[in-house]
Amino acid sequence: MPAPLLLALALCALQLCPAVLAGPQHQRFGPGSGWPIRLNRVYNFEWSNCGPSDPARMKSMNIIPDPICIPGDVTVSASGTTTTAIEAPLKGNVTLEKKFGNMWMRIPCVDELGSCTYDDLCAELDTLIPPGTKCPEPIISYGIPCHCPFKAGTYNLPPSDIYIPNLDLPSFLTNGDYRLTAVLSNCDQEIACLKVRFSLHSASWWFWW
Ligand SMILES: *[C@@H]1O[C@H](CO)[C@@H](O)[C@H](O)[C@H]1NC(C)=O
Repeated sequence: MPAPLLLALALCALQLCPAVLAGPQHQRFGPGSGWPIRLNRVYNFEWSNCGPSDPARMKSMNIIPDPICIPGDVTVSASGTTTTAIEAPLKGNVTLEKKFGNMWMRIPCVDELGSCTYDDLCAELDTLIPPGTKCPEPIISYGIPCHCPFKAGTYNLPPSDIYIPNLDLPSFLTNGDYRLTAVLSNCDQEIACLKVRFSLHSASWWFWW
């Protein structure tokens, strides 16, 4: 499922995957990440493939509306294709950068968020969705698998509504413009590369009390 997998990476980078896959998020940010802030808008979402000769690529991805208000509904559609099976050991390398003036600064990995590497995405998927349990909506309705291996082929997610519940972010993800590069690889062979840009707007918890 290059489309859902890449989409999942993109959404996970926005911290949307626990919400989408596992319901409301529990408190997960340790003292190292400061007081959490509550995400209330994601806007200016853009994406592109960055591995022109990679075997897997997104053909389309649409997330509306813009801005996405959180909590709220989004409509997601995506389609992707792969000429090779996507299977373990599947590594993910995410680089998250924030714009400061004219410069992009790398955000480090804190609590699995930021510029992180994931050594075994197939195992992470199994943790998120234990084998034997149903794949989550909407992907189950369209027969898209949610565990490795993903056979070569084209996968389509027609426009689907997803509810995004309240999400807390660590306080280092301050308001502004971000760009993210996610590279999937298997034994040093690059499988896919996706670049995503988005802007975040959050409010401090103090404004919610
Ligand atoms: C991840 O990607 C970044 C940017 O391309 C690179 O500098 C870094 O070395 C990569 N890390 C790993 C573990 O592959």
